Amino acid sequence: MCGIVGYFGKRKASEILVDGLRRMEYRGYDSAGIACLFDGQIGLVKNAGKIKDLRAGVNASTDASILNATLGIGHTRWATHGPPNELNAHPHLDASGHFAMVHNGIIENYKEVRNGLAQHGVECISDTDSEVLIQLIGYCYQGNLEDAVSEALKKIKGTYGIVVMTDHEPGKLVTARCGSPIVLGIGKDETLVASDASAIIPHTRDAVYLEDFDMAVITDDGVEMLDLQHAPINREVTAMDWEEGAAEKGDYAHFMLKEMFEQPDAIGNAIRGRLDFDMGTAVLSGLDFSPRETALIGRVLVVGCGTSMHAGMVGEYAIEEMAGIPSEVEQAAEFRYRNPIITPTDLVVAISQSGETADTLAAVREAKHKGAIVSGLCNVVGSTIARETGRGVYLHAGPEIGVASTKAFTCQVSVMLMMALKLARTRRMPRHEGEELCGWIERMPELVEKVLTQNDAIKAVAQKYAQCEDTFFIGRGYLFPVALEGALKLKEISYIHAEGYHAAELKHGPIALLQENTPVVALLNNIPGKDKTLGNAEECKARNAPVIAVVSEGDEGVADGFDDVIVVPDCPPCITPVPTVVALQLLAYHIAAARGCEIDQPRNLAKSVTVE
Ligand code: M6R
Repeated sequence: MCGIVGYFGKRKASEILVDGLRRMEYRGYDSAGIACLFDGQIGLVKNAGKIKDLRAGVNASTDASILNATLGIGHTRWATHGPPNELNAHPHLDASGHFAMVHNGIIENYKEVRNGLAQHGVECISDTDSEVLIQLIGYCYQGNLEDAVSEALKKIKGTYGIVVMTDHEPGKLVTARCGSPIVLGIGKDETLVASDASAIIPHTRDAVYLEDFDMAVITDDGVEMLDLQHAPINREVTAMDWEEGAAEKGDYAHFMLKEMFEQPDAIGNAIRGRLDFDMGTAVLSGLDFSPRETALIGRVLVVGCGTSMHAGMVGEYAIEEMAGIPSEVEQAAEFRYRNPIITPTDLVVAISQSGETADTLAAVREAKHKGAIVSGLCNVVGSTIARETGRGVYLHAGPEIGVASTKAFTCQVSVMLMMALKLARTRRMPRHEGEELCGWIERMPELVEKVLTQNDAIKAVAQKYAQCEDTFFIGRGYLFPVALEGALKLKEISYIHAEGYHAAELKHGPIALLQENTPVVALLNNIPGKDKTLGNAEECKARNAPVIAVVSEGDEGVADGFDDVIVVPDCPPCITPVPTVVALQLLAYHIAAARGCEIDQPRNLAKSVTVE
């Protein structure tokens, strides 16, 4: 969602800030702004709209602060309280104009704080919840910025990642976090602050991740880390291991396209060093249970949202089928609020690409609170869920910038399969079966590569259906979560209404909607239940709905009589989701491209959903 960047150093702040915001555009936003501090003056440029508009505003500015400052803050806002306009865009100033702040998160008691400030003659001018915080900081200021920040933070309820500056103390930036990520980039003679490592990575690899209730004071003397009571704290500097160019689009038209084509390498990275052929098992160092501890796991609960939840469903099926351990997947928000029953032998696996999704993080906290063993499966290194679960497994998929999650899903499924294998081998799976599964997991990059070679053929199918307004995706067993994921991909980037259904469920209502312009994508791969799904696809055809059949290589005859066919490699049922979803990702991408949609930043969506 919103993005934060701050700069303290010797270079031109406005350029670094705007570039940092550009690198965070993928997170989703609808307005942007920067504030720079020079010669005791704060200069401000902000607008509704895109970073290119902000850049134009900055380039046109004659304000000495914008032109000369080597210290400043910037923000991309995804509107929550109040529409996306210049007034509501960050940075916000206090009433005196001497304090500027950017804020991510939600101030839950903002109305109460605003009314309290009004009683002391301080009026807020924007619709945002954020503004009350900088007004409060200005109001609390008595000569020391970090004192004012910690005083103000004690009075608010909610979540925040903030960076604040004041022209009363021109050589200082103060940042703090609670619930919204903040990372410091420690460079030579400069310090960067951001909500997302992508804004920092071009400048330095040395990062310090703030934890909740941490505050950092950045001055010429360096970075001082404090808690809100001003006691010094230590946070280690870690090296960010992103490859140069990993967060750049290169020659691809979109990040999503690049990330789909990166999947063979990404899956290769996710499985590298984690398969033990000798023992026919997987080695996941984050899940370093002894066989005895593993044997005691009574149930696996998987929590996540969106695409991550769909990957969790594949994991649920695999864990039950292979390990014989009862497993359930649950939408993280539902899990956190319905007072779930958790026992000490439950393993709760939280899946999140970003590691920052608010509901998944809250589910982790609830599960920990109730005494479960909690593990995180995240892509973003150092993210909150990864750190709070401790016992985590990283995906190693590399940065995923496109809002539509692609390589994260296939890597999540790869890791879930390895987790199922590990659990299964300490239970009932014999070594030779484990070895065979290791072989199939190792082949997944090659299977995906094969699907990617059909890009042009899938594009041709996509172009036939680009003008439809409603679609259905149907599947069974391991392909049911893939049907959900295929529909999610299509709706989020093409704005076509797409529903993923269990193939058996169609007759219980949705079939009423089928007509000649409602295509049905039927997942007819060679897995148990295929014949039943085939019958369901025939029922769709009988109602004049065009059917796009996804079938296994060598089994193309299944598609006879249907309108279009996409062939994916034949493989065991638990492996099928990976190559099949890649075909659906390509289908969604080409439909969206044919409709001229903004693929990497679909309307209303954010990459990381940090509010409930
Ligand atoms: O970062 P997370 O994996 O926790 O994100 C969860 C969902 O917000 C995410 O998967 C979302 O559904 C994607 N936009 C789907 O492509």
